[in-house]
Amino acid sequence: IISGAAVLNALELVGKRIEDVKIVFSGAGAAAVATARFYRSLGARPDRMLFCDRAGVIYAGRTEHMNEVKKEFAVETDARTLADAMVGADVFIGLSTAGAVTQDMLKTMTENPVVMALANPDPEITYEEAIEARPDAIVATGRSDYPNQVNNVLGFPFIFRGALDVRATQINEPMKTAASYALAALAKEDVPDSVVKAYGQEAIHFGKDYLIPKPLDPRVLLWVAPAVAKAAMESGVARTPVDLDQYRAQLEARLGKSREVMRIMINKARANPKRLVLSEGEHHKMIRAAAQMVDDGIAQPILLGREEVIRGKAAELQIHLDGVQVVDPAASNQCERYAERIYELRCRKGVTRTEANELITNPNYYAAVMVDLGDSDAMISGLSFHYPEALRPPLQIIRTRNGSNVAAGVYLVTTRQRVVFFADTTVNVEPDAETLAEITILTARLARDFDVEPRVALLSFSNFGSARQARSEGIRRAVEIIRQREPGLIVDGEMQASTALNEEILNGTYPFNRLHKEANVLIFPNLEAGNIGYKLVQRLANAEVIGPILVGMRKPVYIMQRGDEVKDIVNLGAIAVVEAQKRQNAEDSGAGRGG
Ligand SMILES: CC(C)(COP(=O)(O)OP(=O)(O)OC[C@H]1O[C@@H](n2cnc3c(N)ncnc32)[C@H](O)[C@@H]1OP(=O)(O)O)[C@@H](O)C(=O)NCCC(=O)NCCS
Repeated sequence: IISGAAVLNALELVGKRIEDVKIVFSGAGAAAVATARFYRSLGARPDRMLFCDRAGVIYAGRTEHMNEVKKEFAVETDARTLADAMVGADVFIGLSTAGAVTQDMLKTMTENPVVMALANPDPEITYEEAIEARPDAIVATGRSDYPNQVNNVLGFPFIFRGALDVRATQINEPMKTAASYALAALAKEDVPDSVVKAYGQEAIHFGKDYLIPKPLDPRVLLWVAPAVAKAAMESGVARTPVDLDQYRAQLEARLGKSREVMRIMINKARANPKRLVLSEGEHHKMIRAAAQMVDDGIAQPILLGREEVIRGKAAELQIHLDGVQVVDPAASNQCERYAERIYELRCRKGVTRTEANELITNPNYYAAVMVDLGDSDAMISGLSFHYPEALRPPLQIIRTRNGSNVAAGVYLVTTRQRVVFFADTTVNVEPDAETLAEITILTARLARDFDVEPRVALLSFSNFGSARQARSEGIRRAVEIIRQREPGLIVDGEMQASTALNEEILNGTYPFNRLHKEANVLIFPNLEAGNIGYKLVQRLANAEVIGPILVGMRKPVYIMQRGDEVKDIVNLGAIAVVEAQKRQNAEDSGAGRGG
């Protein structure tokens, strides 16, 4: 099944069809027999497959070293040795022993041969020897230290997962071919940064050296198991059919809490994808994220940047840009209008017309004005800027929500058991009580967007007055302000992190507390604590983080951190779209009431 996926993709790359090619097998044991039978299901022609065992080619009429199974593969041929068989072969499948095939044999194969030397741990011919003999070959082995590792781990756990989850009565051919096609298709998808990093590579793209997904790629579960389950249902062997969308969501939840949490947002975003401008449109991560957002149906991305650069990079990355709008600010006829808007907003903040014309050449200003004027519904930037540098234009142009002058950065920190919101982690350096109260209210609202009922702890080094310092007084004052403004919100403090996250301490030592259960929103006393806090959990406890989610802005704008990955951009994209939907709903219902 795994080698089948690799063969299908290798043949696609060299423009051949499995129905037409000559395939030579070295080995006629259980593995070779099962593989050959499976290749028939994939379309290979029995009369174009030649088998060789220790006695040579299995030809029609051979009598020595034969058995019933081998007879099934005996064909009319004059070839008697593996060397004879290899002449003109398109595909070599080695399921035998180290050294079974030679460089001279490979030299007699057709153009662009596919060489799958799968004997383990030492293949029929080493990767280096194969490439040396045939630089035009596509080579796969069973080894992890060379490209195209045909590894069983890509198959059996997920095939059984899919089969068992629908309580299939058997694993039939449609289920097996579905697994192969799913693996072949997944190899053509953009590879997550985490997988690229895990393999210590700079980039991984579909091609000669990447025919099938990497064994550590977590997406294999999400592609193979549902494909197998679907095939089982369609072929009538599933005893408990499942809803495939729900099934995918369940599988995703197995991959970690953050995926489960993001699934909520992604589903909400899909219901009504919005325009999302990515100001660093020439950045390869933004291009990849844009394509992924279109594929996932969560947004209508707009990449800002030079069209030829963006399209060139996309082609290099083998990424399609269907559904992605590309806007080159330099060539746009909106520059004047946008500069005028900057001037209008900033003329009393010292910005002259000339300066406004200059500012609009900065993509972060351009994107911010797009959002301000409604030409995009949301914006993401920050990958190649220092955070404050990327944040300032949206703060100046998009501004904070009416009634508040605070924006704050929130991270969702997820561990196996918990989802906890951390704030403020990115914006307010030394917040006073008023600002802390505002940060708390904004973060609690965000938690509700994620379908989490907030229980908020304002953190300190002190537990409910145990250390009477000006700092902890300020936090206590913040709690009072919050209680006045949002009487329904479950909030308490000041308290230590260990108290906030431990029900026994909370209720045992401080029975008067108002949380009663562990907090799921942690408000840090200042930016140092918040920023250090989430990074420690991320690094030391391997917690996954989603964010930073900027709250408090008049329109959805999110600033990434340098080094963030494509998955982080896509996550924020989904969050941005959901936020844009909320704003639109609020506007629509406001307009409805007005009318
Ligand atoms: C947020 C930050 C960029 C503001 O910078 P600043 O030098 O104060 O910039 P300015 O004073 O020019 O403020 C820019 C605009 O943002 C507004 N603003 C400043 N701080 C704000 C806040 N916390 N919330 C909302 N708006 C804010 C200002 O009112 C100003 O608008 P105006 O010019 O229309 O009056 C700054 O506080 C900062 O650098 N924070 C730390 C960011 C950081 O390094 N994070 C850690 C890495 S992730």
